[in-house]
Amino acid sequence: MASYDVIVIGSGPGGYVSAIRCAQLGLKTACVEGRDTLGGTCLNVGCIPSKALLHASHQLHEAQHNFAKMGLIADNPSVDWNKMQGYKSEVIEGNTKGIEFLFKKNKIDWLKGWASIPSVGEILIGDETYTAKHIIIASGSEPSALPGIKIDEKIVVTSTGALALDKIPAKMIVIGAGVIGLELGSVYARLGTEVEVIEFLDEITPGMDAEIQKNFKRILKKQGLKFTMGSAVKSVSVKNKTASVTYVNQKKDTEHQVDADVVLVATGRKPFLDGLGLEALGITLTDGGQIKTDSNYSTNITGVYAIGDAISGPMLAHKAEDEGMAVAEILAGQAGHVNYGVIPGVIYTHPEVASVGLTEEQLKETGNEFKVGKFSFMGNGRAKANFAGEGFVKILADAATDRILGAHIIGPMAGDLVHEICVAMEFGAAAEDLARTCHAHPTYSEAVREAALACGSGAIHS
Ligand code: NAI
Repeated sequence: MASYDVIVIGSGPGGYVSAIRCAQLGLKTACVEGRDTLGGTCLNVGCIPSKALLHASHQLHEAQHNFAKMGLIADNPSVDWNKMQGYKSEVIEGNTKGIEFLFKKNKIDWLKGWASIPSVGEILIGDETYTAKHIIIASGSEPSALPGIKIDEKIVVTSTGALALDKIPAKMIVIGAGVIGLELGSVYARLGTEVEVIEFLDEITPGMDAEIQKNFKRILKKQGLKFTMGSAVKSVSVKNKTASVTYVNQKKDTEHQVDADVVLVATGRKPFLDGLGLEALGITLTDGGQIKTDSNYSTNITGVYAIGDAISGPMLAHKAEDEGMAVAEILAGQAGHVNYGVIPGVIYTHPEVASVGLTEEQLKETGNEFKVGKFSFMGNGRAKANFAGEGFVKILADAATDRILGAHIIGPMAGDLVHEICVAMEFGAAAEDLARTCHAHPTYSEAVREAALACGSGAIHS
């Protein structure tokens, strides 16, 4: 019976990062993974393959809409869907193999199969039992089902099926205007699919800064996405390879039906805890079905820890990674910790959307006195040269101390730009600190500096 200091269950961004950090800190570590490849949802059927398709479809959009403006001739660019799928698979393979390499390098054993925890300190995989002083559950999440909807991953799909459709559909209905719906919806819209998004609420991307929501929707509409807001999908039926979606308009209380070749159900995810034996072990869950943990990521059972999508908080790969590192450090006797006030959120559409910290609405609710510094990418020379002038940077700072409280960006490379604001927030910086930092010209990041300037004496280029 093999024995370890730590066994991590799950090799997604939370699990594999945690395993690597445990090994680096001198703990004998194994990681259990039941898929054929390492990397979990994110690398196999989530973040990474979707980014490959977002990139490819954006290139097509550029060729169709902007090449001619720059004097580049690429007549009638078209899509070889099989080849695009092949490119996506290569990207996945490169990434999952990379983790296999890192496991070998760090002497982490990959225990292949699906694990359960029959008792404290024990892991069972098939007939094989392993022991560990510490067990970290990093089992991730799965799409949450909608009552009345049967997923077949061909016509009625989750994000997993949407990444591997047989062909580009003529019409797609996306249920849910959250991150998954909008990222994948915009991929297919760019590939020529007629995309209609049906959303329960009156605004897209719930929880985002309202000004961003409004502008984001306007931009996506301009790109051809159709939005049916304030409408609850009740059921989906499939007949002769066509799906019929029935939804109710909340305000008018009227029922409607719309047909499509493919329906993407993107109405949220829930922790994936099947088969772990948590109930028998006596692990406490939250009302939302997540594993309940304390500030050290310990469950109510000594020696069993949990991180990532399996516990509370935003379901984001990078949040899971940070928790994975923190719990490893805690197990090694160090002071691991995650600053939940500075976790960026990014939507990888074109333009990208990124945010960190508090929204204007949250600040108004708390009664905090704050100032808003805004700068449009129309005033940024680099963005103008790259046909990327749409969007803005908005920085929210405390009215009295000038400390940065939040930032919201819609525009080119927003997902990268947001990080200088994250670093500033980690250091407790004032908007003036950013404003006084020299930014290279011409870069998109000058828009961040201009927004910081706008919190004080004023932006230069607006
Ligand atoms: P989500 O929670 O972001 O959005 C779901 C949307 O579906 C909500 O707007 C909700 O109001 C709507 N909805 C729910 N039931 C409905 C119904 N019956 N009819 C119409 N609309 C309905 O969930 P999503 O997009 O599935 O993403 C799941 C998780 O994965 C999220 O936590 C997200 O943050 C994460 N994720 C993050 C990514 C990123 O960081 N770029 C990429 C993909 C996923």
